[in-house]
Amino acid sequence: MSHTSFLPTVHILYENPAWLPPLVSALEAEGFPIRLVELDQGILDPSATPEEGIWINRISPSSHTRGHNDSVGLAREVLFWLESHGRRVINGSQAFELEVSKFRQDRLLQKHGIRTPKTVLVVGRDQALEEAGRFDGPFITKHNQGGKGLGIQLFRDVEGLANYLDSDSFDPGPNRQLILQEYIRPPQSFITRVEVAFGKFVLAMRSSTEEGFELCPSDACQVQPKRPDVCPADGGSKFSASPVDADDPLVASYISLCKSEGVDVAGIEFVEDAEGNRYTYDINGTTNFNQVLGREIGVDGMREIARGLRSEVLRERRLRARVAS
Ligand SMILES: Nc1ncnc2c1ncn2[C@@H]1O[C@H](COP(=O)(O)OP(=O)(O)O)[C@@H](O)[C@H]1O
Ligand SMILES: [Mg+2]
Repeated sequence: MSHTSFLPTVHILYENPAWLPPLVSALEAEGFPIRLVELDQGILDPSATPEEGIWINRISPSSHTRGHNDSVGLAREVLFWLESHGRRVINGSQAFELEVSKFRQDRLLQKHGIRTPKTVLVVGRDQALEEAGRFDGPFITKHNQGGKGLGIQLFRDVEGLANYLDSDSFDPGPNRQLILQEYIRPPQSFITRVEVAFGKFVLAMRSSTEEGFELCPSDACQVQPKRPDVCPADGGSKFSASPVDADDPLVASYISLCKSEGVDVAGIEFVEDAEGNRYTYDINGTTNFNQVLGREIGVDGMREIARGLRSEVLRERRLRARVAS
C-alpha cells in the first residue's frame, strides 16, 4: 500500500475522453484513486446515494459539438444530486452555470470590478439586429453557451449580421441564445489566458489569434496545424509564455471572483487594446493545458490542479481532527 492511498477516490465526470489523460495522470501522481464517469446518456435515481469521495466536473459547454447533446443537461441534474448529498464537487453547479453562460460571466466579471467588452444577450433575429444597431464599431457574435471559438463571427455593420443570420452558415448554437459583443482589436495578435486553481495563480499564457478564434490549448485539440510551416516543437506554436504573474492586480481580481463565485478551477481570458486596456471575456472551468508550453515555462498545469486538490483534502482533514479533539 502506497503512503498516499488514504486519499479519497476522485470521480471524474467527463464527456470528452481526449481531455482525460493529463488529468488522470496528474491525479494519480498525487496519489488519488480515480473513477471515470461518462456523462451523456445515463440513469439517475434520486433515492440513490452517490459514492463517497470527491467529484470533478469536466463537462464542457462545447460537448454538443462532439455529438454529446445531452451532457450539459444531464450534468446539471447530477451536480444537484451530488451537492444535495453534501459531496464535494470541484467546479460544482455554481461554477457550471457560470461556465455555460457568457451572459452570466459578463455580469459577474463586472460585479467584481473587472473590465469587459460591451456585451448583450439576444434571443431572436429582430432583437439581434436591433441591438447590433447600437454598437459603434465592429462587434462579434458568440454562442451564449460557447466553447472552442465555434460560431464566432466578426461584423462591421447590421447588414453584415442580417446576411449571416439569414444564411445557411448561421449556427444558432445549442440554445439559440446569442451574445453580441464589442470587438476589441489586439494591436499584437494575441490574447492572454490566466489559469487559477484553488485560489492560486497557476500560469499565464499568450495564444496567437492569427489563425482565428479557435484557441483551445489542449494538446488533444492541436491535431492539424493549419500552417504547416509552423512546427510546435520549434517553439513556433500558437501558445507562448506571458509576463502576467501572480502579482498582477487583474490576477488578484480573478482569484477573488473565483473564490466568491464557487469556481475552483478556471482558465480566464482577456484581450488587450492599443491603449493597454485589458478586457476579460471568457471563463473556462473545463480548462486544459498545452504540454509544449508547460515544459517551456516549467509549470505542469494539471499537476498543479492535482496538488491543489490534495492540499485541500489534507487541510480539511486537519480541520476535522482539530474539531474532534
Ligand atoms: N470581444 C472580443 N474582442 C476580440 N476578440 C475576441 C472577443 N471575444 C472573443 N474573441 C476572440 O475569440 C476567441 C474565442 O472567444 P471566446 O469568448 O473565448 O469563446 P469560446 O468560449 O468559444 O472560447 C477568443 O479567444 C479571442 O481570440
Ligand atoms: Mg475562449
